[in-house]
Amino acid sequence: MKKVGFIGWRGMVGSVLVERMLSENDFHSIESYFFSTSVGGEKAPAVKNAYEKVLSSLDLKQLSQMDILVSCQGGDYTLEMYPLLRSSGWKGYWIDAASTLRMKEHAMIVLDPVNSDKIEQGISQGVKDFVGGNCTVSLMLIALHGLFKENLVEWVSSMTYQAASGAGAKNMLELLNQMQSIGHLSAIHASLGALEIEKKANTLISSDQFPKEQFGHPLALNLLPWIDSEWPTGQSKEEWKAQVEANKILQTKTPVPIDGTCVRVSALRCHSQALTIKLTKSADLTTLEDLIREANPWVRLVANHKAQTLDQLTPAAVSGKLQIPIGRVRKMTLGDQYLNAFTCGDQLLWGAAEPLRCVLKQILNRS
Ligand code: HSE
Repeated sequence: MKKVGFIGWRGMVGSVLVERMLSENDFHSIESYFFSTSVGGEKAPAVKNAYEKVLSSLDLKQLSQMDILVSCQGGDYTLEMYPLLRSSGWKGYWIDAASTLRMKEHAMIVLDPVNSDKIEQGISQGVKDFVGGNCTVSLMLIALHGLFKENLVEWVSSMTYQAASGAGAKNMLELLNQMQSIGHLSAIHASLGALEIEKKANTLISSDQFPKEQFGHPLALNLLPWIDSEWPTGQSKEEWKAQVEANKILQTKTPVPIDGTCVRVSALRCHSQALTIKLTKSADLTTLEDLIREANPWVRLVANHKAQTLDQLTPAAVSGKLQIPIGRVRKMTLGDQYLNAFTCGDQLLWGAAEPLRCVLKQILNRS
């Protein structure tokens, strides 16, 4: 059995990964080793075939005993440890959730339902570094897979509604604290009318008393139209990722332009996106719907009706699920080649942990 080391398994993405691997019995076919920066020496999680103690994630010697390392520890860890491992001569597979290596030539961005054939080819050709994509990119590509497969996409404009989970566990908790603080205010002023309470709520969320250490701004009763750092193009780094990562995943010969505005909203763990798609040629709506619906096992086409949309195409409906619904699919008044769509997906599943689980299985199946 292959030795697989897990780093960052106690964090949010790592925990979701372990949960998924447990529910799919993935631990039965590997020898697992759990590494940690903080709890080395403690008892390892009670999963099948796991080495009993947690090892130190800074111990190069023990890390390099692994056939495969899976890191959900974050970019700083990758930046520090990956080069050390490779320069020490380690030839194992490196699977990573962080963005550090995504755009490096030696690394593949993995998204099983969309590029498993290319991953397969990569493994055959000796690629050793496999990185999960940005969450909005992965969720969009699973949803639009059918149109990309048929080269029907000339460009996409994607306006995102990104959940707090994308910013991290502390941010999720901060959003809940913000909501609690607003709930408290509205409870003590229950007799006031809507406009009066709105004034008080707006004063509260703008005050220094309001919990906003993580986001730096109120997210509850608000939205934040900037995610990640500033790019010289005027895009945010999150917006820049859409085009470069999607085209790398698809291995397009001519890049498909993808751009839009990324916005943080007060959903907890599901990212949504409103999409404007310029088609490369006219096609009737039924054909487009069939292509979208049949592209992969995870996409779900939601009929463009109010009841189905509000039942099935929301963060509340999608949270904790592997299905990726896409709906509001209709031709726009802009012209016959302009398609409107809206999609929603779990940021921690297909947006983060699941592509890593799939590539791990793919590597194991090959070895
Ligand atoms: N960058 C994403 C976000 C997280 O901030 O929502 C995962 O790729």
